[in-house]
Amino acid sequence: MSAPAAPLVIAIDGPAAAGKGTLARRLAAHLGLPYLDTGLLYRAVGRRVLDAGGDPADAAVATAAALALPPADMDRADLRTPEAALAASAVAAVPGVRAALLEFQRSFGRTRGAVLDGRDIGTVVFPEAQVKFFVTASAEARAKRRWLELQAAGTPLPLAQVEAETRRRDEQDAARATAPMKPAPDAVLLDTTALDAEAAFAAAIAQLRARLAAIPGAAP
Ligand code: CDP
Repeated sequence: MSAPAAPLVIAIDGPAAAGKGTLARRLAAHLGLPYLDTGLLYRAVGRRVLDAGGDPADAAVATAAALALPPADMDRADLRTPEAALAASAVAAVPGVRAALLEFQRSFGRTRGAVLDGRDIGTVVFPEAQVKFFVTASAEARAKRRWLELQAAGTPLPLAQVEAETRRRDEQDAARATAPMKPAPDAVLLDTTALDAEAAFAAAIAQLRARLAAIPGAAP
């Protein structure tokens, strides 16, 4: 008798504004899987530290905020701001913060399967995920997308500022010692520079089918 197939986990990692969230949401809806935007966890921790007047890079302060994070904070309306993004990147470099948030992410996907997006899903949170994507796009394309998102949200910023902040965050995320942003060795690389959301989804579905076809009993 063969062992029961593990629930399907899809890991989506990559730099800022590469299109991870849009792709992850669409894949989750298509496959009927729960979706977790893990960046929101780090944004919520960063926001808490800023609210208290603390320094997001202070390891003790950031770790205490992560350990005490109320789940309702994930629903705050002010997590998508550039200020929250930079604070998130600072707290995300603190090993105690990452450790405090790890079990929540793992238990989210363990029972029913899930699509999770972030920076270390395929490398640290779910190294056993059946399908992993590392979604990228040129720095210019990503900054332009975030710039348009901010405009649509009614909080416009100069493109040069968005570009500089995106670059700074990517450098910080890739250079940190704990769980740096990098493709898992078995990740599918998906460059969305020339792809709209529809084309990125189609490319991901084709890769997903190919991956799952190679795993006995895993086809959805
Ligand atoms: O939406 P965007 O790609 O700009 O960022 P996000 O996914 O919301 O993540 C915000 C920040 O949280 C990132 O810059 C990382 O520093 C951190 N993060 C992380 O370290 N690990 C994750 N799994 C998810 C986010």
